[in-house]
Amino acid sequence: MAYKFTQEHVSELNYRKNQDVSNAARVYAAAFRGKPWLEKWSVADARKEIESWKQLIAEQNGKVFVVKNRVGRVIGVGVGHVNDPEELSGSLKAKLGDGKHYYFKDVAIERKFRKRGASSVLSAAREEHARRLGAKSIFSRTRFDNTARIKQFEKEGMNRFHEEDHETGGVVSKRIYFRKRLR
Ligand SMILES: CC(C)(COP(=O)(O)OP(=O)(O)OC[C@H]1O[C@@H](n2cnc3c(N)ncnc32)[C@H](O)[C@@H]1OP(=O)(O)O)[C@@H](O)C(=O)NCCC(=O)NCCS
Repeated sequence: MAYKFTQEHVSELNYRKNQDVSNAARVYAAAFRGKPWLEKWSVADARKEIESWKQLIAEQNGKVFVVKNRVGRVIGVGVGHVNDPEELSGSLKAKLGDGKHYYFKDVAIERKFRKRGASSVLSAAREEHARRLGAKSIFSRTRFDNTARIKQFEKEGMNRFHEEDHETGGVVSKRIYFRKRLR
């Protein structure tokens, strides 16, 4: 039987390891080109996106975590950070309230390794990071028709609290927002 992923498979992305960054970019581009997203990601664009997250690390606002399989290959990537208030709509900011809120930005798992807990262990790593940063809540969003992620939010004890349209990868869609209060 296929093994389940645990915290032992999670680490921070090492940007100095070209192979790991390349694999993370491949996983990211393939995940968001697939259903339900059907976005226009090349591996090069995904790499640029992943490189842009270095800024979050430099500012000590965020972290990029990866899941590796048994042979040490990156098969999943997830990024989390405390929110940049400038990027949020007024109504979303109002619902979140003042203070520090931690955003589960993106998560992508290679198709053949899905449904084995890889995304859940990335959520756990990000939640731990959010707590260390003293965030009041964690929040995230996904497409209205992303059943896999919505089920996962519910399983992780997150509640739906907002919706609005958003564009990524050249596609606009309705996004449903979920959150969990940490304190
Ligand atoms: C959504 C995604 C990240 C889930 O990754 P995963 O590693 O397969 O998820 P997990 O194995 O940790 O699943 C945890 C829980 O989520 C739910 N879930 C995950 N995939 C599901 C699916 N296809 N259908 C229904 N529920 C699902 C289940 O409740 C599951 O718990 P269970 O296995 O005990 O039933 C993955 O499908 C993916 O990469 N999708 C494409 C990119 C994407 O949509 N990212 C999210 C952007 S917001």
